Amino acid sequence: MTHVIITGGSSGIGLALAHIYAARGARLSLLARSLPALEAVQAELARDHRETSIHIESADVTDEDQTFAAIRRCEDAFGPCAILITSAGIVEPGRFEALSSAAFNRQIRTNLLGSVHAVRAVYAAMKERRSGRIMLVSSGAGLIGIYGYTAYCASKFALHGFADALRSEAKPHGVSVSVCFPPDTETPQFSRELEHRPLEATVIMGRVAPWSSATVALRIARAIDKGQFEVFFGWTLWALGRFGSAVKPVLNWWFDRGIRRIGGGGERP
Ligand SMILES: NC(=O)c1ccc[n+]([C@@H]2O[C@H](COP(=O)([O-])OP(=O)(O)OC[C@H]3O[C@@H](n4cnc5c(N)ncnc54)[C@H](OP(=O)(O)O)[C@@H]3O)[C@@H](O)[C@H]2O)c1
Repeated sequence: MTHVIITGGSSGIGLALAHIYAARGARLSLLARSLPALEAVQAELARDHRETSIHIESADVTDEDQTFAAIRRCEDAFGPCAILITSAGIVEPGRFEALSSAAFNRQIRTNLLGSVHAVRAVYAAMKERRSGRIMLVSSGAGLIGIYGYTAYCASKFALHGFADALRSEAKPHGVSVSVCFPPDTETPQFSRELEHRPLEATVIMGRVAPWSSATVALRIARAIDKGQFEVFFGWTLWALGRFGSAVKPVLNWWFDRGIRRIGGGGERP
């Protein structure tokens, strides 16, 4: 039975993915920091999907040793990891100068290095077995810079670069590496983020309805099935992903115009 490890599997997109793989009867390992949240989700999944087996690990992905040890325990319980999905992530919006170094670094450490730590924990063995699939969860904010999201964009752009380079290293060894760029998606993170999203960002991103986490997760799972490298959601993000250097100047012009119109960029409290 396929062993699927999902970091950030206790909430949002990671949890929606857990439901998909649990419905397929996979062996599931979920990693997150909060043990009570993991236990609640384990009970929920066991209730909804009787065929599945679920292992939970409380670990902080910013800590490489903790991540390695947790993933080792997952593999001891359920065997080698066939699919790794790195969905653990955080976002703390705020203009660059208003964002503390701690908040900036936390986002890089969690979103970029947290993913790298999880990949490092499974990659060598996947290569040896000549099989395995890795899906990194970036963001639409990994395709274009957004006002108030310097740290988050940096972390998610960097994940794309990591995925791009690792893909070519991994392919000759039978390991597939993918990266997805979800749009605004209804999750607990999104609700928290909205409270802190600068008005400028709301204006430039428009007031498009967020996607449901189930729809986003389904598309991610299908991309993993196909070994698809990049996964875009909606035509704007697709155009940005495929034709970024041509599309970005136009979008940036549009964004700057929107910010000017609201008299944005100033020192509002
Ligand atoms: N929602 C969106 O609009 C959106 C859009 C684009 C991309 N994304 C990306 O999608 C991924 C999932 O986001 P989401 O919206 O589903 O967020 P979410 O509902 O807040 O879930 C985040 C998950 O990551 C875990 N996590 C956070 N920091 C961690 C750490 N240091 N170590 C281990 N686990 C950690 C959380 O559990 P604990 O807090 O208990 O650790 C939780 O399980 C993130 O990478 C996010 O950047 C989201």
